[in-house]
Amino acid sequence: MTIIAPSILSANFARLGEEVQAVEAAGADWIHIDVMDGHFVPNLTFGPPVISAIRSATKLPFDVHLMIERPELSIADYIAAGADRITIHAEACVHLHRTIHYIKEKGLPAGVAINPATPVSILEPILHDLDLVLIMTVNPGFGGQQFIPYSLVKLRQVRAMLEEQGLDKVFVQVDGGVNKSTAAAIREAGADVLVAGNAVFAEQDRAAAIAVLR
Ligand code: DX5
Ligand code: ZN
Repeated sequence: MTIIAPSILSANFARLGEEVQAVEAAGADWIHIDVMDGHFVPNLTFGPPVISAIRSATKLPFDVHLMIERPELSIADYIAAGADRITIHAEACVHLHRTIHYIKEKGLPAGVAINPATPVSILEPILHDLDLVLIMTVNPGFGGQQFIPYSLVKLRQVRAMLEEQGLDKVFVQVDGGVNKSTAAAIREAGADVLVAGNAVFAEQDRAAAIAVLR
């Protein structure tokens, strides 16, 4: 079953709690929370205070995507704010193995994201430690961008690596440019978690927008 994780980056920030409740009612499985620090990516969004402010709005898992430098310095704050799973960028973390284990020692599932130009081979030494791999299908920082087609090749490569190592419990997540025209190819290439910002929040009928991605 494909998991749909609407990204609140495209939500109405003036009504964030209501927006989260609306996508929960519309059938969302996770809430994808795009944390950006203005350094690792050229945009700045929100941090732990906003996450804790919307925590009581929904029981859905908060899938926190840290697009920040040195994530190890603030992971504990995101956990305290209500994160249910944490994904860090391979490109933003010098001690990736140590930081993944830190997240897991804190009791949360750990994910690693790779940007469009980062080869999947970077994941090989840590794949068995991961609960989730996030293949970025746009250059991180903004919603509403075009899906990068080469991502499908990377998706198939990651799926093959997981199968080779017998790791069938690891989620393969895709993020960026996911919509009704790209979703089928993305699922077919092996993704089981689809993040969608614009494709969900820009629509009036969120339930239909989510259903068409599955
Ligand atoms: C981009 C974010 C994505 C983005 C997806 O840096 O990580 O989650 O919000 O937005 P859409 O689905 O609109 O491309
Ligand atoms: Zn994201």
